[in-house]
Amino acid sequence: MTVRWALLGTGRHAERSVVGSLAKADGGELVAVMSRDRDRGEAFARKHGIARVHDTVASVLADDAIDAIYDTTPDALHAPHAIYAARAGKHVLVEKPLAVSVAQGLQAIEACRQHGVTLGVVFNQRHEPVHQEARRLVREGAIGDVVLANVQIPLQSVSPRPDARAWSWRADPAMRAGGIAISIGDHAHDTLAYLIGQQVEEVSAFTDATRDNPPDERVAGLLLKLSGGAIGYAVATRVTPYARRPFEIHGTKGSILIENSYLYLTGGPADARPRLTVITEAGESVNAFEPADCFRLEVERFNRAIAGTDTPMTPASEGLRAVAIGEAIYQAARTGCVQKVAAFLPDGG
Ligand SMILES: NC(=O)c1ccc[n+]([C@@H]2O[C@H](COP(=O)([O-])OP(=O)(O)OC[C@H]3O[C@@H](n4cnc5c(N)ncnc54)[C@H](OP(=O)(O)O)[C@@H]3O)[C@@H](O)[C@H]2O)c1
Repeated sequence: MTVRWALLGTGRHAERSVVGSLAKADGGELVAVMSRDRDRGEAFARKHGIARVHDTVASVLADDAIDAIYDTTPDALHAPHAIYAARAGKHVLVEKPLAVSVAQGLQAIEACRQHGVTLGVVFNQRHEPVHQEARRLVREGAIGDVVLANVQIPLQSVSPRPDARAWSWRADPAMRAGGIAISIGDHAHDTLAYLIGQQVEEVSAFTDATRDNPPDERVAGLLLKLSGGAIGYAVATRVTPYARRPFEIHGTKGSILIENSYLYLTGGPADARPRLTVITEAGESVNAFEPADCFRLEVERFNRAIAGTDTPMTPASEGLRAVAIGEAIYQAARTGCVQKVAAFLPDGG
């Protein structure tokens, strides 16, 4: 089966990271793009060799030549698009976050379940080979029981696009749930939990927010209690472009350090390769990895999920948990009190 894809959105992320990967992915073909502006859509389609252009979501969903959508539109549109797509019988791969609230995310999940379509959320860094190797080592007990882990993701500053129209949604309270704690912090806690194979269960948080609604923080520090007893520390910033430091996982019998993953967000030396250091009683070993096209791997896995031979790398339930963690983070930051993630999920998680 070849999955016929439509890309929703022609913005920064679609252009930089998604369109090329979607076109290259095995098991599918990119047949259409949707832009609210037909001229922009046609220019994007010409540039990337895409056959069909739509200028509304409704016309994408009415197109019988499309099986699945990859949604790179603003955060608040992800869940409504997933619901409309489900009703039209299209599969949905949505950029993180799944939704801007748990309530909205649940509606999207329910619609996809009801209509029998596959829903996945893009946490692309799960695919990074250095992360896969760290997860494998943790799983096989190479560093004993993981008791401590930390990750820091400083978003590199990006200059606003000359076309500032599309840029403005990030300042619109209706379009996103908060600041850096959810836009980059979600990558941080998702990768941390995925690598050590434990779920985030409790959070406390400090941010530099000057507004509560919506939160507008640029620096967020999160303390996490994980299901296997580990303590995690995740930091996300967008005003400290040089704050890179290794991702560290510490166990009772060793430690793992990961460098140069997330470079597409943090920037870094052009020739930097992801590196993994393992330190145990036996000594220290260092391995370098070739950079991988995580978005292509994401789409290929989703194509297999549609074909019934695999599952999405991040199933909707885990995307929903990430949204719940975001809600817990803001509640923790506002109240100064530790929050249980389960309290933000239906039926207590
Ligand atoms: N996984 C990752 O690492 C990663 C990285 C970056 C971004 N993302 C996610 O990708 C999504 C898009 O981010 P981005 O940086 O690409 O944003 P962006 O540059 O503003 O692009 C968003 C695009 O969505 C389309 N759109 C549709 N309805 C819109 C509306 N009402 N207002 C504004 N734009 C609308 C626009 O395309 P048209 O004008 O052509 O319609 C716009 O160019 C976000 O949800 C973000 O969280 C994920």
